[in-house]
Amino acid sequence: MARHFLAVLAVALALLQVASAKSWLDKRFNTDGTVRTGYDASGREVVMLNLNQQSGAAGFNSKEQFLYGEFSIQMKLIPGNSAGTVSCFYLSSGDDEWRDEIDMEFMGNSTGHPVVLNTNVWANGDGKKEHQFDLWFDPAAAYHTYTIIWNPENILFKVDNLFIRSFKRFAGLPYPTSKPMRLHATLWDGSYWATEKGKIPINWSNAPFVVSYRNFYANACVSGDHTIFSSLRIPRMSFMKLVT
Ligand SMILES: *[C@@H]1O[C@H](CO)[C@@H](O)[C@H](O)[C@H]1NC(C)=O
Ligand SMILES: *[C@@H]1O[C@H](CO)[C@@H](O)[C@H](O)[C@H]1NC(C)=O
Repeated sequence: MARHFLAVLAVALALLQVASAKSWLDKRFNTDGTVRTGYDASGREVVMLNLNQQSGAAGFNSKEQFLYGEFSIQMKLIPGNSAGTVSCFYLSSGDDEWRDEIDMEFMGNSTGHPVVLNTNVWANGDGKKEHQFDLWFDPAAAYHTYTIIWNPENILFKVDNLFIRSFKRFAGLPYPTSKPMRLHATLWDGSYWATEKGKIPINWSNAPFVVSYRNFYANACVSGDHTIFSSLRIPRMSFMKLVT
């Protein structure tokens, strides 16, 4: 009897976990534009941002604001000719000219790949900190994990298990320290900028463009919560040397 009860309880708890893993979009985010959801083969919620000429940009934006934390998501990028598109995962304090921002932006390619990953940090509206990487795999073929770690000393960018960039805080230089940020995922037409500095615009005959996200994870301080952010330790880093 007791054993049976425990088994039922275990199943109920397992279902609860699946349910919460499934519903991360509605629970944590608001959406803009054409956003569809579905499930992958193992029951994880997949969120698809959809871009076509009529609908314009699509995205989801966290309801909460954060001050420091670790944020990761898995993305499967646009297959084929994605020139002109920008698929993003980023933190931003807002749209004002003094904003802080931490960006991972994937810039499409007319031949499919390589896709350029642009990383950037804005502090008080100063954003000339771009650093670009050619991804060494086809990011449209499978899901890969992209991570931003933001703490008072460093901003770290990670692709799967590799740290690709560390942006250190230096005394006297702008660094995002005080403005809470929302987490965003967006897909937009960056024809003026994204591919070969804007030379290759979007070809709308390939629309709709779709980028998929799943496995959202955050271990972060929610702004206004006044919780002490103790669980975010700085991991031992193994940086890979990358051609940039
Ligand atoms: C796309 O990738 C090719 C190599 O596959 C590269 O030669 C080209 O410069 C890249 N850029 C654009 C805009 O397609
Ligand atoms: C746009 O894509 C279509 C279909 O792939 C192709 O036929 C057309 O030539 C492309 N247009 C440009 C300007 O590259």
